[in-house]
Amino acid sequence: MKGTPINYGVVKRKIEESRLTEISKASIREIKKLIDEIEKATGEKYIRMEMGIPGLPPSKIGVDAEIEALKKGVASIYPDIQGIPELKKEAARFVKLFLNVDVDPEGCIPSVGSMQGGFAAFIATSRMYKEKDTTLFLDPGFPVHKQQVKLLGQKWEKFDVYDFRGEKLRDQLESVLQKGNIAAMLYSNPNNPSWICFTEDELKIIAELADKYNVVVLEDLAYVAMDFRKDLYTPGKPPYQATAARYTDNFILFISSSKAFSYAGQRIGMMIISDKLFNKKCPDLKRSYNSDIFGNAMIFGTLYPLSAGVTHSAQHALAAMYKAANEGNFNFVEEVKEYGEKAKIMKKMFTNNGFYIVYDKDVDQPIADGFYFTFAYPGLSGEELIRELIFYGISAISLEITGSERTDGIRACVSLVQRSQFPDLEYRLKKFHENHAAKIT
Ligand SMILES: Cc1ncc(COP(=O)(O)O)c(C=O)c1O
Repeated sequence: MKGTPINYGVVKRKIEESRLTEISKASIREIKKLIDEIEKATGEKYIRMEMGIPGLPPSKIGVDAEIEALKKGVASIYPDIQGIPELKKEAARFVKLFLNVDVDPEGCIPSVGSMQGGFAAFIATSRMYKEKDTTLFLDPGFPVHKQQVKLLGQKWEKFDVYDFRGEKLRDQLESVLQKGNIAAMLYSNPNNPSWICFTEDELKIIAELADKYNVVVLEDLAYVAMDFRKDLYTPGKPPYQATAARYTDNFILFISSSKAFSYAGQRIGMMIISDKLFNKKCPDLKRSYNSDIFGNAMIFGTLYPLSAGVTHSAQHALAAMYKAANEGNFNFVEEVKEYGEKAKIMKKMFTNNGFYIVYDKDVDQPIADGFYFTFAYPGLSGEELIRELIFYGISAISLEITGSERTDGIRACVSLVQRSQFPDLEYRLKKFHENHAAKIT
């Protein structure tokens, strides 16, 4: 490998020292650590695309509310596990105004990031019925969710939705659900890593089949309102965030504050449990919990032993951000649109230099520009590509760890890349293309 922008010998040595035999199998945090070390050793700044850190300042509304709550002394008081009343109320309003879904505040429960919400949901949904002990992942997906089910020793199945878009989703989904072992199915929308956004028709299929086979829909809205093709900041008016929750009453939504509100550091998100699911009586729950009511099992049997609730001051912050958004005073979508704009420019740099977009279509439309995009280079496997890009000062993660069938692909996260780095990115991609173009047949 000649003429790489970053010192070849140092990069090679650091990769060896990391003992990551296959970089395409490394977790996001392992890649982060490796790149931190290469940056330290070489003094070169990487185009960091491996981790979905927001990259924008946190909402001032949240920070001010949190400071005020701390000054009032909330730090010394255990918060209610089910969440403070003002947060529950504003979360239910948020869901009504931005998703057009009615939920009782009782089912709006904070979690330590959406990450803990997912963990709690895997635990509780897999205990509802003896025969339903498996989670279905509509992949590609967020790798940590698989880590969670593995850690819990639970069963899971998956398929890559890219091959089953539109009406094709029905038969594929039904072929899995009709076996009767699936307790819940999880997908993110917009999707991490591909930025696919399910259409209303697809969400209806998911909802219909969830009802037919009594499966809980776990809808991960980590990027709520961030399908920038439509303006989704129209409180109380359409267009609304696309959601299966408008078509089924058997759901848990996970609304993260990490990306939409740039509040990742405070580790707070919301679990929104439909009224029907919250009140559902499942005698089999008694195997693990004191109560056979799902909502009680979730709050007092699952979240209590996990963390006994969520940081008190962070709950005040989120309540204030929801309230401001609900009242038309906090256009959070406008603040994060920058991600979509950067994605558009960056994708063009990649495609101008021989790369192609892997998940390139949303049914029949080009994929939207958002927080992530996926790319590959002709003639290189995902492992080869991710490894070689490190020598060119570019870091990302492999699609292999996301459950994707597209093992040629890489996920790029645009958030941490500054516009001032665009000339470096362009130069590095050009160099890469010069050194690899011969591989393209
Ligand atoms: C799809 C998806 N789900 C969940 C999370 C975790 O969100 P939180 O920071 O709220 O735990 C992320 C974070 O990147 C994500 O991309």
